[in-house]
Amino acid sequence: MKHSIKKISTVAISLMAYLSLPVYANSQTQSAPLHQEAQAIAKQFLGQLKPELQKSMKTNGPAKTIDFCHTKAPEIAKKLAQKTGWDINRVSLKPRGLKAQPDQWETSILKRFNEQLSQGIPPQKMEFSAIVTIDNQKQFRYMKAIPTGDVCLTCHGTNITPPVQKALQNHYPNDAATGYTKGQIRGAFSFSKAL
Ligand code: HEC
Repeated sequence: MKHSIKKISTVAISLMAYLSLPVYANSQTQSAPLHQEAQAIAKQFLGQLKPELQKSMKTNGPAKTIDFCHTKAPEIAKKLAQKTGWDINRVSLKPRGLKAQPDQWETSILKRFNEQLSQGIPPQKMEFSAIVTIDNQKQFRYMKAIPTGDVCLTCHGTNITPPVQKALQNHYPNDAATGYTKGQIRGAFSFSKAL
């Protein structure tokens, strides 16, 4: 997703139609095959990353696991993209990864997810998909919320140890992805496919 904010703003008006829809369990494309395809990709992404993250935390400790996340997470995304033909990313309102800065559409959905959280909706159920037109190019877009769990707090929480802080600074001098508490929405999967 390398569209500039400027380009996207040209279609802001047509997007508003989509953004006025409630996010939770009410996407107009929810039953579409592409929505299901995206759900399956999210499952695969998580299924590949989470066990390896946990294993590395145990055997190498958190500071070294940051090196692991730095190379492994983008690698998993890249391989899944090659395999599936989708554009695959993770984004956040407080980004860490170099590609994690959300565009305008993603920002709106992330904000909606946060609103839904404050209404008591479980993050595990938050997902959204829509067909949007950007630069005259129609695409299917899908997002799924990623909640903050206990294991995440070592690197995304409020009490980061000095070695972890140092490792984070090495890779991410502009890191914004700390200060989270359990249950908050850390970010979201964001996938798209040209139609
Ligand atoms: C060992 C430290 C560490 C732990 C533990 C950790 N993360 Fe991260 N997280 C990172 C790093 C480093 C990145 C940036 C990866 C990259 O360069 O793409 C990241 C990126 C992310 C992103 C992509 C958005 C962004 O801001 O870059 C999400 C979403 C995320 N983490 C969620 C989680 C969740 C949920 C957990 C718990 C299940 C978790 N992380 C546990 C270090 C960690």
